[in-house]
Amino acid sequence: MIPKIDVVVQQGNVTAIETDALVVNLFKGVRKPGGATGAVDRALNGAISELIQQGDLDGTLGQTAVIYPRGAIPARRVIVVGLGDAARFDLEGVRKAAAAAAKKARELKAKHVATIVHGAGIGGLDPAEATQAVVEGSLLALYWFPKYQQTPPDPPAFPEKLTIVEFDASKIPALEEGARVGRVVAESVAFTRDLVMEPPNIATPAWLAQRAREMAEEVGLQATVLTDPELEELGMGFILGVAQGSANRPHFVILEHNKDREDLPTMVLVGKGITFDTGGISLKRSQDMWKMKHDMAGAAAVLGAMRAIALLDLPLHVVGLTPFVENMPDGRAYRPADVLRNVRGKTAEIISTDAEGRLILSDALGYAERFHPDAVVDLATLTGSQGIALGHLAAALFSNDDTLAQELLNVGQKVGEWLWRMPLWDEYKELIRSDVAEVKNSGGRKGSLPTSAKFLEHFTEGYPWAHLDIASMVWVDAPKDYRTKGATGYGVRLLVEWLRGRA
Ligand code: BES
Ligand code: MN
Ligand code: ZN
Repeated sequence: MIPKIDVVVQQGNVTAIETDALVVNLFKGVRKPGGATGAVDRALNGAISELIQQGDLDGTLGQTAVIYPRGAIPARRVIVVGLGDAARFDLEGVRKAAAAAAKKARELKAKHVATIVHGAGIGGLDPAEATQAVVEGSLLALYWFPKYQQTPPDPPAFPEKLTIVEFDASKIPALEEGARVGRVVAESVAFTRDLVMEPPNIATPAWLAQRAREMAEEVGLQATVLTDPELEELGMGFILGVAQGSANRPHFVILEHNKDREDLPTMVLVGKGITFDTGGISLKRSQDMWKMKHDMAGAAAVLGAMRAIALLDLPLHVVGLTPFVENMPDGRAYRPADVLRNVRGKTAEIISTDAEGRLILSDALGYAERFHPDAVVDLATLTGSQGIALGHLAAALFSNDDTLAQELLNVGQKVGEWLWRMPLWDEYKELIRSDVAEVKNSGGRKGSLPTSAKFLEHFTEGYPWAHLDIASMVWVDAPKDYRTKGATGYGVRLLVEWLRGRA
């Protein structure tokens, strides 16, 4: 969760604001600060220039220095945060700088923090977008998950108020709009992180469906939940097959924004929601198996994005499809060599019960056809090989549509959720040819990333589609900028920004 923090925009002069900590900034290599930072420097009789001259501050992105004005201005502390190279500065830099300042303010136990908008003046960024980035970076850096700790270790002292200060009155409306969007987006990312952090004994398919229902009610989305009888009726044999070994029954959540607006373009978001992936009969080794609680991070990202889309009231018809299923070994579990049939009557031979994500997605992708979508994007923690290929820097993108692919690549760059495009060459399909069914669910180690996408492609028909394998992006073992340790909420900001561009 994000601690309760008021975010307000205020027109005024930084040298006049009363606050526990005032955040200003510095680009790398600047010897004589200008703008708001320059005004503070002059009011402090050159204290910032002095830090630069002494070599204690050089403007490296995320670096911070604290100055005590001792009455020279009403602010009780000044935090100078580095912005890095001016030529390379972008919205991701804003988020990182804001995150560094917010964490420093928390460390200093500042209750009221005031900040300028990084990059909106000398940086040349759009004021609304830069403000959104400041709010996202600040709030997301302060995320924590204390739910199951009676006394959280070293309880952090969170700021209670964040004031965004701007001297130029004409920019205020843009800043207010940016702050509003930033708040909605940050809280939606936190909503997703919370779902992923939740332990799998609590976050069962039924529990997640209930959370989705409550969220839908709160923000005004239409919600439908399919359970065993409906899934059987519809013939969702892939979801039912994977679910066979678990006492926790599958729940397929369908959320809709602008459900009855036939005039609007229809976009479908699909998320893999395996609530715990043991591998099933093709059991995973026990080392690190606990991390497989995050195998529903794709679905959690879709839910978070749907939340933001509803609150921002985007003029689009958006459908979120999130099948929640647990993959367990059991006397009733599905097994290697089984043949399953999906919602569209297509078949797959099971080679590994640990290649379960592509199965539940393929039922959802088949189900997506009934909405006659203008585009379908799925997010899934699908393969270990995605992280082997790209590390923690980028998710793998596969698409049958160059325009859609390029849109997503551009948006990923903008929001700092990078993507790298991978091939869907037909030659890969030979690796998943089956002797008894249309395809098999594993083609072995070689090419395991592209063959997983080829498998999905077999079950997508008649719409532009993109598949994002986000396996290595949804969890970090150590905090990094505004990504706190554990769940990152990857994909929420990507989907929201992509759809804002389509609206
Ligand atoms: N959920 C895993 C993929 C995964 C691994 C995500 C590590 C995050 C971190 C997925 O269901 C899986 O088990 N994939 C197998 C597929 C193989 C059996 C064809 C894999 O990638 O090893
Ligand atoms: Mn698996
Ligand atoms: Zn999985």
